[in-house]
Amino acid sequence: MSNALTPNLDPHALAKAISGYHLIHGALRPAISGRSFDVVDPATRRTIGHAAQGDAADVDLAVDAARRVQKEWAKKPARERGKLVTECGRLLNDHIEELARLVALESGKALRTESRVEASVVSDAFAYYGGLGAELKGESVPFDPNMLTVTTREPIGVVGAIIPWNVPMMLMALKIAPALVAGNAVVVKSAEETPLAVLRTVQILNQIMPAGLINILSGFGPECGAPLVAHPKVGKVTFTGSVETGRIIYKTAAEKLIPVTLELGGKSPMIVMADADLDRAVDGAVSGMRFTRQGQSCTAASRIYVHETIHDAFVAKMKAKVDAMVMGDPLDEKTDIGTIISQQQYDKVTGYIEIGRKTAGATAHVCSAMPKDARLKNGLYVQPVIFTGLGKESPVTREEIFGPVTSVYRFRDYEEVLAEANDSDYGLAATIWTRDLKTAMDATKRLEAGFVQVNQNLVVRPGLSYGGVKQSGLGREASLEAMLDHFTHKKTIIINMS
Ligand code: NAI
Ligand code: MG
Repeated sequence: MSNALTPNLDPHALAKAISGYHLIHGALRPAISGRSFDVVDPATRRTIGHAAQGDAADVDLAVDAARRVQKEWAKKPARERGKLVTECGRLLNDHIEELARLVALESGKALRTESRVEASVVSDAFAYYGGLGAELKGESVPFDPNMLTVTTREPIGVVGAIIPWNVPMMLMALKIAPALVAGNAVVVKSAEETPLAVLRTVQILNQIMPAGLINILSGFGPECGAPLVAHPKVGKVTFTGSVETGRIIYKTAAEKLIPVTLELGGKSPMIVMADADLDRAVDGAVSGMRFTRQGQSCTAASRIYVHETIHDAFVAKMKAKVDAMVMGDPLDEKTDIGTIISQQQYDKVTGYIEIGRKTAGATAHVCSAMPKDARLKNGLYVQPVIFTGLGKESPVTREEIFGPVTSVYRFRDYEEVLAEANDSDYGLAATIWTRDLKTAMDATKRLEAGFVQVNQNLVVRPGLSYGGVKQSGLGREASLEAMLDHFTHKKTIIINMS
């Protein structure tokens, strides 16, 4: 743990330095089994380090450490806990650049457009939640004049957090910061593709947090994630990832009767009315589709409905914008678009592109250009694709692709497009673009999604409840409500004074 406070701006050296460890009870340690797995740079396909391959034995150790310290932590006044979490944000602020470089290296997300942004949001998430300690309030209940009846917010105990690879540090922060302020201890299981930047983040935080309060394990889902969910002393699980894994976790949680928060996928619609500001809507489509993150976003604007009068102009402008984006080395400041995370995801994404290409009447508008750098020739690069002419039953329309692939549909009638937008198993985010207030208001009421915006396409922000309906998940994150509802339970206390 020496020198952890000195930022290391060489991501290759940093990756090596923290290879092969979990962080349990304040200390870096290898897996009990001694096993580890490779961490690969998706831009070159070279191994950049390795990660401890955790299993049930490591889970036991981490949960025990968390249990031991949690009781003491919960005794601290809530604002004291909040102050330490605020301090975490301040500390991380000094490490934004090294964390950004490390996550760019292991995830393939471009440094300038994505990784640095993520690292800043991480720091901000701790700062936000750190200020909310005093909001862990209860109520006084007018039950009986001779009885003082109050409710209090009690911590759950040990929280298990299972995170994915697309924005690993941010999604971890949005889980652990509220859990900690609420008086819990956490055990995080990182995604197999991106174990390093989150480990480094936890290592930095352990400089000031009590040992055992934040533990992090790396390993595979069934081998390390599943025993964490199943552990009898884990009282809550918070998860971001696929619907499939979400279901498995929910089933295990049902056996234990513990609460879960599930942030799953999306197939978010964007409706562009004839009166919309066209340039603004095009910008919104490009940023909303997260082409800078290779479309690996649960809120990606992957179904774009454009009024027939502006459809062709919209597609032409959108293609021109995406064409101007530079694909390249994630660590290069000039790069806008990096790589897909893994071979598995590459195969999935290119499979959908093939389906779209083979569909009669559909056109694949392929954008930007593959990087020319010979070092990147084996990299998992996929050129962004904008489809037109696909129908509502196409798998490209219905399923989450999680890649740089979107589809634009022509519509004529507002009622019809609203029905089509809602005709999805998912319900995470939705946007409508119009200058007409009445249409905007109507759509915000009727769009079936947890996060609805008019004339903009912002990403998750601390303070705004974020989460989905239908198969997009259960519960909300990023807000005060998320901390109160998901990381505490309410206790009713009655004092008979008669
Ligand atoms: P995944 O849901 O399998 O993996 C996410 C996390 O869950 C990882 O940490 C993994 O190790 C863990 N996990 C896997 N199986 C588990 C189990 N049985 N018990 C406990 N933990 C388990 O997602 P994957 O395979 O990385 O991606 C597949 C698809 O999921 C993507 O194509 C995308 O559609 C979706 N996804 C959605 C995300 C979101 O932000 N909502 C993030 C990542 C993936
Ligand atoms: Mg999986």
